[in-house]
Amino acid sequence: MKYHIVTYGCQMNVHESEKIAGLLRGIGYTGEAPAEDADIIVFNTCCIRENAENHAFGNIGALKKLKRRRKGMLIAVGGCMAQEEGKAALLVKKFPFIDIIFGTHNVAELPALIERKKREKKVVSLLQDRAETEDGAEAFRTSYPNAWVNITYGCNNFCTYCIVPYVRGREKSRSAERILEEVRTLVAAGYKEITLLGQNVNSYRDGDTDFPALLDRVASVEGKFRLRFMTSHPKDFSSALVAVMKKHDKICNLLHLPAQSGSTRILSLMNRRYTREEYLEKVALFRREIPDGELTTDLIVGFPTETEEEFGETLSLVKEADFSSAFTFIYSPRTGTKAAAMEGQIPEAVSKARIARLIEQVNENTRRKSEKYVGKTIEVLCEDFDEKKGMYLGREPLGRMGYFPCATNCVGEFVQMKVTRANGVSLYGELV
Ligand code: 5AD
Ligand code: SF4
Repeated sequence: MKYHIVTYGCQMNVHESEKIAGLLRGIGYTGEAPAEDADIIVFNTCCIRENAENHAFGNIGALKKLKRRRKGMLIAVGGCMAQEEGKAALLVKKFPFIDIIFGTHNVAELPALIERKKREKKVVSLLQDRAETEDGAEAFRTSYPNAWVNITYGCNNFCTYCIVPYVRGREKSRSAERILEEVRTLVAAGYKEITLLGQNVNSYRDGDTDFPALLDRVASVEGKFRLRFMTSHPKDFSSALVAVMKKHDKICNLLHLPAQSGSTRILSLMNRRYTREEYLEKVALFRREIPDGELTTDLIVGFPTETEEEFGETLSLVKEADFSSAFTFIYSPRTGTKAAAMEGQIPEAVSKARIARLIEQVNENTRRKSEKYVGKTIEVLCEDFDEKKGMYLGREPLGRMGYFPCATNCVGEFVQMKVTRANGVSLYGELV
């Protein structure tokens, strides 16, 4: 029996799909297959923006014919969109051929739901929140040499545009001991990069252990590996955290610090709980303590009532904070969030024009920073082989992708690459 998992959205979902794969392998599924040949297709959905949802709706709908041809095959839909208020009912109505619907709090229940499906016509199982901080699922990892490790689940911040607190529930931290145990096992198994995951890692707490303390302990695990974490909310980004970053070479000096907007008025409407000036103070703290570090961010354009001038403040923030790259989004109204009910929604054409200008500004930063790499030697952790380019690839500590030829398979190895050419976020070179 084979499975096929379709993942939408963020790294957190990518890792959750690894857990789904682990669960399926635990009940007799032996490996992956293309959708046409799979015995179960699982959609791990995202609902953070409307286009992610449309995407999933389109792909699920496209299975109607295949399901008619292969009646024994199972179709399961889980993830954020399945968890969204009213969406499970809509999915059942629109796509009666779906067999199983599960939510974000009961992923580990999937094997039991598959069992139940043998007796019931359709199985829908959703929980309001999770009681456990352990998923009870051993991930079948596919991202070697990187390994994702959850440290927190959920979010309490209620940024007014964001649906995550509604579909992922309240913030919960995993036990520090369990996290350390997982990291030790992964490093011993040969993983070379650990990425700690949470909607807001800075609010991690287990007894006396806060996030800087946890990071300090994880970075103290023996062995050569890189340590990354995401995402940090600027309001909780502290000097204690910078101190830990500075203390350990293992912790990459790349900080993802979502600003969302450069306008204090918009930030307040977003309920971000910091001003432009306070954000820039955090940036200054980071730059002062970690001068060779880089910052990346998330930015939203077209939030309700955003004026041309306020958008201009986001543009100027990109320059001032000197981001090395950024994820840029057009504001997408999400039913049930505060911002969706606000007056002054921005026409799409205006948002599209703004995001094009924003991307241009971000790209300028990226290009300028990449060019500085030419002639330098960087440490790359080789991740994969690119068939098209005929080259190996991997990231340097600050997140840029390096491409290089190599006569032997070096996936999972740290290599020294001399940069000969830069193209956007990509660097090209040769091993030294
Ligand atoms: N519209 C657009 N972007 C959003 N994000 C979250 N919610 C929305 C929304 N409704 C963005 C934020 C967040 C990232 C993960 O997704 O920038 O940091
Ligand atoms: Fe959404 Fe804000 Fe929580 Fe991030 S911090 S998940 S943007 S509510």
